[in-house]
Amino acid sequence: MKAEWLARWEGRLRPVLMKGPRAWVIRQYSHGRASFLKRMLNDKVSPVDVPREAARTLWGIHFRSPLMNAAGMFKNAEGYQMVAAQGAGGYLLGTTTARPRQGNEREKIRHPFAPYPRSGSASNWLGLPNEGHLAVAKRVASFEKVDGCPIGASLMTDPGLDEQEALEGLVEGLRAYEDAGVDFLEINESCPNAGHAHDIGEGLARRLAYLQEHFLDKRRRRLPVIVKFSNDTASESLPSILDLLLSLGFDGVNVGNTSTQYKKHLDAIAPSEQALYNFFCETFGGGVSGRPLKKTSLSLASTCMNYLKEKPSEREFHVIRTGGVEGVEDVKASEEHRIALNQWYTGYFESFSRDGHQLYARLYERLYTK
Ligand SMILES: Cc1cc2nc3c(=O)[nH]c(=O)nc-3n(C[C@H](O)[C@H](O)[C@H](O)COP(=O)(O)O)c2cc1C
Repeated sequence: MKAEWLARWEGRLRPVLMKGPRAWVIRQYSHGRASFLKRMLNDKVSPVDVPREAARTLWGIHFRSPLMNAAGMFKNAEGYQMVAAQGAGGYLLGTTTARPRQGNEREKIRHPFAPYPRSGSASNWLGLPNEGHLAVAKRVASFEKVDGCPIGASLMTDPGLDEQEALEGLVEGLRAYEDAGVDFLEINESCPNAGHAHDIGEGLARRLAYLQEHFLDKRRRRLPVIVKFSNDTASESLPSILDLLLSLGFDGVNVGNTSTQYKKHLDAIAPSEQALYNFFCETFGGGVSGRPLKKTSLSLASTCMNYLKEKPSEREFHVIRTGGVEGVEDVKASEEHRIALNQWYTGYFESFSRDGHQLYARLYERLYTK
């Protein structure tokens, strides 16, 4: 069965499925998420046309639209040809780490995930399963690129290594992706699911300074490096974060990753989904994604834009918005704030269950047809 049909059927059965025992629901969806992705990748997708007015050139790279997948969807560089055919404005693989990782398992549930469809939200505690920088970089090196759908790689320091080893491993990964021909890089400074905290004070300054010395200053071609922070980042800390990124020679910021402010988001979860939400947060923790992050991601990204307007930089630097991007209105709101790019994850799958592989085409029709 094609993934599109499966998604539609799942949408119809969902009200019944979601009434099952909570651990059972999480087990079904955790397993179902992975097998659904595999099925999606087997679908034959006819390439769609992307309206020209959607295109933009950032860092000298042609993005044919301002919307692409967020990190974590194609951890091992799956699906490039699929999203390129769907009409995505770019593609992001990873997050990868120096050593391969199995990811998290608890209560006999591998890579725990729960959707809250009525709330346009989800929780996940995957724990960065991936095959490692080098294996994934080798795979991406053989990709045939599609014009206007540049390839990005998301990387993170390996949570199981001490800081020095982790940074060395990260630099090795950055170089491998540079050699593999990717178009841009994203450093994940914000994963809530791998058992280590990323402080945004002295630790951040130290880690980023290391990357400047060992990678940024030694890049062999124009290869933008973006840093992704959490949607839980306090907006007051953005000026100092931006100053740091600009002074060290980074090329952009992404706000951001999932949230661990479980209580804050409870009101945004539909009453019928709150029991599952609370159970997931208590049992696994993990990160909250989707609609509850919509306002925050827009506010953080526009705060960055305002700061950059006040303090224009000599280097080309862009802001990416991630969190609760679900459709036309969100992309429009980002455009109004001149936010360069949007990434989506939870909203992508919601749109897929409605529009299938035409999800980008439908969005562009509504966004660009006058
Ligand atoms: C199942 C799942 C896995 C994710 N894995 C990663 C990851 O590996 N790296 C990362 O930077 N973000 C990861 N994220 C976070 C997303 O990239 C994104 O920042 C977050 O979900 C907010 O966007 P959304 O509201 O559109 O889902 C993951 C999110 C989900 C739902």
